[in-house]
Amino acid sequence: MSSFIINGGKHLVGEKTVTGAKNGILPLLAATYLCDGKVTIHNCPELTDVSTSIGILKHLGCKCSREKSVLTVDSLGSDGFIIPERLMREMRSSIVFLGAVAAKCGKAVMSLPGGCELGPRPIDIHIDALKRLGADIEFTNGQIICNMPEPTGDCDIHLNFPSVGATENIILAASKGKGTTVVHNAAREPEIKDLAGMLNSAGADIKGAGTSTVLIKGVNKLHGTEHTVMPDRIVAASYLFAVAMCKGKITLNNIIPEHIVPFTSCLYDCGCEVKLGESSVFLKSGGTLKNFDSITTQPFPGFPTDAGPALVAAASVFKGTGVFVENIFDSRFRYIGELSRLGANIRTVGRTAVITGVKRLHGAQVTAHDLRGGAALVSASMAADGQTEINNIEFIDRGYEHIEDMFSSLGADIKRC
Ligand code: UD1
Repeated sequence: MSSFIINGGKHLVGEKTVTGAKNGILPLLAATYLCDGKVTIHNCPELTDVSTSIGILKHLGCKCSREKSVLTVDSLGSDGFIIPERLMREMRSSIVFLGAVAAKCGKAVMSLPGGCELGPRPIDIHIDALKRLGADIEFTNGQIICNMPEPTGDCDIHLNFPSVGATENIILAASKGKGTTVVHNAAREPEIKDLAGMLNSAGADIKGAGTSTVLIKGVNKLHGTEHTVMPDRIVAASYLFAVAMCKGKITLNNIIPEHIVPFTSCLYDCGCEVKLGESSVFLKSGGTLKNFDSITTQPFPGFPTDAGPALVAAASVFKGTGVFVENIFDSRFRYIGELSRLGANIRTVGRTAVITGVKRLHGAQVTAHDLRGGAALVSASMAADGQTEINNIEFIDRGYEHIEDMFSSLGADIKRC
């Protein structure tokens, strides 16, 4: 187990380019399995979740190679349909392989995915949707056994909740085959649009991705293609909230303004100077920032659940009291206990956190319990007086490409040991 040693209190100043989105690349990698040919993916971030997905693809028989941020996957001739437990357990999003593998092979066998650090994460919406597409699914000894000889003909699927993963699974499962599938109350997250864009460039026929109604006409064959992964809006949020709480200024390149407006408008209201360009954002933070009144996480275009920890960490040093409600996951507040060790004043009741800003945080020994909570501890430690040791940083490596380099280059004192 590695840790970070952070000497806080440094201002963060500089210019950075945002990497490719973790939440975007993982479904894209599942999609490469459907393509009979070489898929070249640009702007692929170097993350342990990406390595796990590549491990799954190799296990299924694909040829994968990587040259810096360019990843090539060739799935032609691959026909594996079993994914071992050790790979499934590594991350929750491994469940998107279910739709892709079943659509390609007519069957899929895999264990239930991991990722329970945010509380129970059921997959009933995924399973019900795949059944509507003609899959026969059983659960035996912790394994999902799925048979889907051919997706059914025309089919309407209404989601009770706009689940991101389930929408991705339906798109993957219905892209190849017969009939037209219409998804109602689909997730509208930008990562869905990115997935559909890549599949369409490989010959799929998907319309409406990014809206609540997605129409997928199955095609016989998908071919090789090239695609650039969309920028990571959650990494952008991590930079912006960190610079806001540590004081300083940053220009972020490779952002899509509409993706980051939930953060920039909040930071503007708190007193930061914010300027949005066509594909960049400038943020300057100085003086006293005041807390937001109330923020609730919501499906896109609302405030994203993944940016909640970065916001709460920043709010812990903003003047006054802010109320934050986590509306997507049941149990996402473990990092708050760790923030309290750094001197934050936060009370939680159920899914609500009431944050009363303190003048200064102080260094302490803390532990990351999940990916985004772990990253929030990094920003809080950079803002704190004195030295902090963060343990279990492997969680952070799942979603941030060398976070220590990311912040060191802005002036932070952070070392991996
Ligand atoms: C969620 C986030 C997504 C983020 C991803 C990675 C939302 C809406 N989704 O996607 O933006 O990129 O984490 O961190 O913010 N649920 C069920 N049954 C299911 C599927 C989901 O009850 O079959 C529930 C979940 O328990 C949760 C909610 O629906 O309460 C959100 O689920 P979903 O969007 O599917 O989660 P992810 O795909 O993991």
